[in-house]
Amino acid sequence: MQIRILEDSDGLGRSAAEAVAKELKAKPRSILLLPTGSTPLDMYRHLIDIHAQEQVSFSQATFFNLDEYLGLFSEHPASYRRYMEENFYCCVDTDLDRVYVPNGNAPDPAVECERYEEAIKGAGGIDLCVLGIGRNGHIGFNEPGASFDSRTRVVRLTESTRRVNAEDFEGDRAPEKAITVGMGTILGSKKILLLASGENKATAVARVVEGPITEEVPASVLQRHSNFTLLLDQEAASSLCKENL
Ligand code: F6R
Repeated sequence: MQIRILEDSDGLGRSAAEAVAKELKAKPRSILLLPTGSTPLDMYRHLIDIHAQEQVSFSQATFFNLDEYLGLFSEHPASYRRYMEENFYCCVDTDLDRVYVPNGNAPDPAVECERYEEAIKGAGGIDLCVLGIGRNGHIGFNEPGASFDSRTRVVRLTESTRRVNAEDFEGDRAPEKAITVGMGTILGSKKILLLASGENKATAVARVVEGPITEEVPASVLQRHSNFTLLLDQEAASSLCKENL
């Protein structure tokens, strides 16, 4: 595991964008697995800038998203497809035929999960996976207790995740369920980059770096991955032991 600590969330976003751009320059046909949420917004902004300066093209790469709420049509303002279109795909040269987000409104969600997992396999597996982390250690929507060998499936979100994510929805809770790429699928990625920003992620980050590997803290298993980098801002790193700084 490598740990890099950046000054603030903008520095974190820039560093993450540079890592993605480096991957695409080395392998233009890369297969990427990407997160949504507040943390990666700076990364997408910097990627758009790097693209505008004609330093990288996304046209040959394939993009998968980690998750989507169940029951949301794709144009819903809080859908992750819409998030990706508004924050990233709008402004770069991605080939939309090679952009995948789970369909949260599929008539048969189980079939949709199988189709999604097959699409990842068919593309040749993930070259670079970028993750955010929940305060409870979730990655994608793999909540505490998720099996380390799980695949893309429908999951029930914890009450705490539903409350934290409520701001995008009317009412005080996000939807009850989501489709998420599984832990086994994430762990099969050749490289993994986890981004964490802000003090409210410090405890989860300390558990990932210093805690035991346990399904109760899904991201803790990333310790075992042979090409895992943690990009943190100073606040997210604030609970780490000095020897890990
Ligand atoms: C979203 C995802 C989640 C988020 C996590 C952190 O696609 O995979 O695991 O990365 O909930 O979200 P933020 O960045 O909003 O704190």
